[in-house]
Parts: sequence; structure tokens; C-alpha cells
Amino acid sequence: MKNYFLYLMAMAIMVACGNGDKNKSDKLNVDGAQYAEPFRPQYHFTPKEMWMNDPNGLVYHEGIYHLFYQYYPEDIVWGPMHWGHAVSKDMVHWQHKPIALYPDEHGYIFSGSAVVDKMNTSGFGEEGQQPLVAIYTYHLMESEKAGRADFQTQGIAYSLDNGDTWVKYEGNPVIDNEGIRDFRDPKVFWHEPSEVWIMTLVAGDHAKFYSSKNLREWEYLSDFGKEQGAHGGVWECPDLIKFNVEGANEEKWVLIISINPGAPNGGSGTQYFVGDFDGSSFTTNQEEIKWLDWGTDNYAGVTYNNAPNDECIFIGWMSNWTYARDTPTKKWRSAMTLPRKLTLAKEGNIYFLKNTPLVQLASLKSEVAPKSFDITPGQVKEMEFETNNQAQVVFTTSSNKFEMKFANAKGENMVLGINDTVAYLDRRQSGKIDFHEEFGKTVHKMSLKGLAQESYEVSLYIDRSSVEVFIDDGKFVMTEQIFPTAPYTSLSITNRGTESLQVKNLKVQKIKSIW
Ligand code: FRU
Repeated sequence: MKNYFLYLMAMAIMVACGNGDKNKSDKLNVDGAQYAEPFRPQYHFTPKEMWMNDPNGLVYHEGIYHLFYQYYPEDIVWGPMHWGHAVSKDMVHWQHKPIALYPDEHGYIFSGSAVVDKMNTSGFGEEGQQPLVAIYTYHLMESEKAGRADFQTQGIAYSLDNGDTWVKYEGNPVIDNEGIRDFRDPKVFWHEPSEVWIMTLVAGDHAKFYSSKNLREWEYLSDFGKEQGAHGGVWECPDLIKFNVEGANEEKWVLIISINPGAPNGGSGTQYFVGDFDGSSFTTNQEEIKWLDWGTDNYAGVTYNNAPNDECIFIGWMSNWTYARDTPTKKWRSAMTLPRKLTLAKEGNIYFLKNTPLVQLASLKSEVAPKSFDITPGQVKEMEFETNNQAQVVFTTSSNKFEMKFANAKGENMVLGINDTVAYLDRRQSGKIDFHEEFGKTVHKMSLKGLAQESYEVSLYIDRSSVEVFIDDGKFVMTEQIFPTAPYTSLSITNRGTESLQVKNLKVQKIKSIW
């Protein structure tokens, strides 16, 4: 009897804490069948329906990772922007939340960031609460249509219930526009040494820095970038981040800038600058242009504020403005990249960002025994697999002349090759490509300058409509959309060199759906 009572007590506690059905509570509140549509990513974030672009307001607070995003709830093309909202405890499983921010009399809600105002500097907190404060751009369409240049301003909103409901500040906009057409995408962080908030935003062809003691009143500090970096298009979505350089006793700042068009393989892309920030201006002596990702489909990415252990976690929008509106999905449009940990490394005098998909993803992967084999020059090794295009393919090698071809029974294929100091990704026959002439037009290339001389890792994450390639510990990255009309079921590796190709510890691991 006593045991039975204890059992009942334990059950009651489990139900109250939500442990009784743990998987369910971690999963999305959507009907599973909906997520079986053609091309629906199975382990990447997508909105339940309708149009999505940039990630916004990435912030961690009280055990929850928030993902806000540019969202138009009435169509699968861009329109009046809102902030959609999703939350996660592990950055793997996401739960959809109601729309967080709606357009108002100041305009549409464009991209921006969110912070935890731990000391309640804004005064929005009540009774010791730490408010979440969102800082975003207002885009006033009427004003743009009337031919004015000052239609973008910056506004703020706060939440006292960890992001569930938001109140717009009555003093909006907090930064007015003095006549700059492209004036947007504020990213804010707390700068400890000077005890102020620092905002980076973009103004067409450069970044601007501001500071504030309370998130309401902002003071202009400085400009950066008119003469630096790539300028093939407008600058968007900046992010200024402090790094401890891996393996060195050195602190550096990285300024991430998205640019559209002007990316190395066409359309939208993300460049970065490594330099110093003294609390008021950013400087760099970097001369070359650095790309965070050489693929065509990683744009407007930014990093989390307040992430645990000071980790720098990045999420990008997995599309490209060139064809974003035309991709062949019907119910929703576009996905986010996998969340990635960014670290800054140094070799000689060269700094580079490394991207590593989060370790939490391991929980989704099937266990398989690794295989090692050699391929003689000119020969092809062919393998079959059944992963339904939900897989990580990984191996190490020291060769820099080989080609991997993923193919399905319909003759569609996607190729990733390495030829000396260049990697190439060919999606010209990868599946559906005819929705936009630019999509399957060229083979996309990535410089591998600095590739390890010895053995290095090649890792690909394939989902229903994307592939993310990480080479040499995430030093070289390519993210691309693909739309195969049936899953790839074979992988052929060709040795294009003159020496034996050693493939070590090859694994094709199936990745579970997060829905
Ligand atoms: C980047 C961007 C931002 C802007 C938003 C509008 O993709 O153009 O600069 O705030 O999208 O949706």
C-alpha cells in the first residue's frame, strides 16, 4: 500500500513537472503530417507556414533560446514584416510561439536584436524583473513610397514574461533618421569595460556605432567600413563580437556584415572583419576580404546574446535574395541554418572564423560503424545508403584531389569536389532548379587557402532541401539549398589525384526528424 502511494506521488510529480512525456514537451506544437511536405527540412528550423527571412533577436534567457525572425504571416513571399517567434531548450527542438511584434504606426518591424537587461538600465523591469528588450528597425512604407529617404528608424520593445508578450516603448523611435536610405538592423550588446550598451547598425555602405546607458537614449560614436571590405551591394545585419583567440592569449573583435548582392558565388553573402574595438570605434588592418560562408545560402546571420558559457552561437537565414521568393515550396518559405558555434583561430598572422554545428545535434544521429578504405588514382568507390536525405556524412583524408557525388534513382545529383586549393559544389543537376535562372547556373567555388597539409575532416549535413559543408574543422564552409525530387541514395567518391586516396572513418549517419 505504502509503495503504491509512493508510486502515485512520483507519477503526480512527473506529470506536474512535464517529465512524464519529455519528448513531447520538447517537440513542436505542430501536427506532424504537415512537416512531411516535399522539401520540408527535417532538422532545420522552418516556420509552420508562410514567409520567413532573417533571424532576429537571438537571445538566451532563463533556460530558453529565443529565435525571432522576419515573418510575413499572410503569404509565402516577403511582405509587411513582423517578428515571428520560436523557443528551444536545446537549440535542436523548437516550439512555435505567437507572433511577437506587429507593424505599427511607425512602420514594419525589420531586423534587429534582443538583450537581457540584467540591471534594469531601461527601467522597464518591475519588482526586480530583468526585462528582455528588443531593438529593431522600423520601416515606414508610406514614407518610402512618398520618395523620402528617412523611412527607416530604430525602435524598442520590452517583455517581462520571457518573450511571451511585448510592449512597444511609447517614446519610439529611439533613433531618428537624418536622411539615410538604408539605415537598419541594430545589434546591441553590453560593453562591460565602459558599462554601456553598444549598438552596431548599417547605413548603406558602412557600419555605425552608438552607445546608451539605458537602451532609450543613444549617442553616436563612430563609423566603420566605407573603404574596407566588399562593397558589391548594400551592407546589412551587422554583429560585433568579442573573441578570445583559440590557443592564444589574445582578445580580438569580429565585425560580421551581410552584403547583398556581392557575395563570392552571387547574390547575398556574409563577410567579416577581424580587428579591435575600444568602446567607441572599430579598427582593422585586414586587407583581404573574408567570407564567413562561401555558399549561396547563408545570409543575415547573427549571434546569440547572453548564451551560456559565453559561447558564440550563430544562426543564418538559409536563402539568397536572388531567388528567395521563387524556391519550390508551397506552404512555407525558407529555413534557418543549423545553429553553429563560432570560434576565432589564428595561423601565423592570419585570423579566421571556424563554424562548428552544435554538439547537441549528436542526440539526433544514428550510430554507425566507421569505414576506412583506399581508392586508387582514377578509380571510383560507390556506396548505397538509405537516409531519406537526413544525414551527416563525415570522413577524414589528406588528399586534396577528389570528388563526391550524391545521386538518386532519377539521375539527379549533387557534387562536392576538392581540387588543390579550391572546393567546388555543383548543384546544376541536383533536382529542381528551373524556378530561377540563377539557381543552377554555375558551379560554386570556395578558396581553401590554408587547408591543413595533413589529415583534415570533411563533413556534410544534408537535409531535404539543403546541404551544409564544413571542411577542416569548420574553417571552410559552404551552405546551399538543393531541391532533389527524391532522396539521394548513393555516394560515389572518385580519386582525381595521382596518389592513393585514403578515406578514413567514413560515416553516413541518419539524423532524426525534430518534428
Ligand atoms: C536582410 C534584410 C534586412 C532588413 C530585413 C527586411 O535580409 O534586408 O536588412 O532589416 O531583411 O526584411
